[in-house]
Amino acid sequence: MAFLELDHVSLGFGPPNDRTEVLKDVNLQVQENEFVAIIGFSGSGKSTLVSLLAGLQQPEKGCVRMHGQPVTEPGPERGIMFQNYSLLPWLSVHGNIELAVKQVFPRYSRAERKAHVERYIEMVNLTPAADKKPSELSGGMRQRVSLARTLAMQPEVILLDEPLSALDALTRANLQDEIVRIWGEDRRTVVMITNDVDEALLMADRVVPLTMGPEATLADAFTIDLPRPRDRTLSNSDPDFKHLRNRITQYLIGLNEEAKALRVDERKEMPDVRPVDFYATRRTSFWERLRNNDTDAA
Ligand SMILES: Nc1ncnc2c1ncn2[C@@H]1O[C@H](COP(=O)(O)OP(=O)(O)OP(=O)(O)O)[C@@H](O)[C@H]1O
Ligand SMILES: [Mg+2]
Repeated sequence: MAFLELDHVSLGFGPPNDRTEVLKDVNLQVQENEFVAIIGFSGSGKSTLVSLLAGLQQPEKGCVRMHGQPVTEPGPERGIMFQNYSLLPWLSVHGNIELAVKQVFPRYSRAERKAHVERYIEMVNLTPAADKKPSELSGGMRQRVSLARTLAMQPEVILLDEPLSALDALTRANLQDEIVRIWGEDRRTVVMITNDVDEALLMADRVVPLTMGPEATLADAFTIDLPRPRDRTLSNSDPDFKHLRNRITQYLIGLNEEAKALRVDERKEMPDVRPVDFYATRRTSFWERLRNNDTDAA
């Protein structure tokens, strides 16, 4: 039994006469303590896939399971880092992380909570900015707050949606190492979305391409059996690293060309997709409200 799985999952958006089938028949089995990277093109459905794993969206067909049980709502065992960071604008760096920590560790004393929050702020090198509000931070700093918040919840499964895309190369490299360290030492399971092949090769056990949408699906995985710890300075000289990078890049280029050919053949019109508020009709959780930038989330 897989630890976390997508079993023949499909999901589309829009009314029946104007639908986009975003994901079609997606299958993924993640083992406990595995590090899986999902790589794909913009707009193909990567964030949708992560939302399904988090339980923030439900599939129209198929099932998402954790420990064999259907995932029907978000839970603290699956921590998600959103692509748009979703920080609460009126709380400081410390306050944003503390709020999440309170949700997951309600029994912490004030001092324990403070120490815990400070540890994760330090981890992402934001100690000097701990009292700043999101509007006073750069994009990369906000991304680091969001990462620290997810890691501070110490979830069993860490779901990261392009967690490092806004960072400079040095900060990015440091945080790649930090995420791999937490994954290894704390024996977590990670599903990470990235658009960077080298990042996936440095971090993951498996790299799974998502094909171009609409009707995107996960392709066969590339197993990354490079020994750990992985040395990024070898990425330009190590033949195994280079071979894997070539295979994955060629595969992605092939997907792009296939999609282009299809667009010419079918002369498809772009769908007029409008956002649907899936949360209006049911009770929303803290994480759902954060994702929607609901200003009452706190
Ligand atoms: N709630 C929604 N309502 C309508 N369409 C949606 C909704 N959420 C996503 N979509 C559509 O689904 C498709 C996939 O979106 P998604 O955000 O999952 O892509 P992505 O691969 O994460 O893109 P990016 O790389 O730009 O982050 C897009 O065409 C998007 O417009
Ligand atoms: Mg996305």
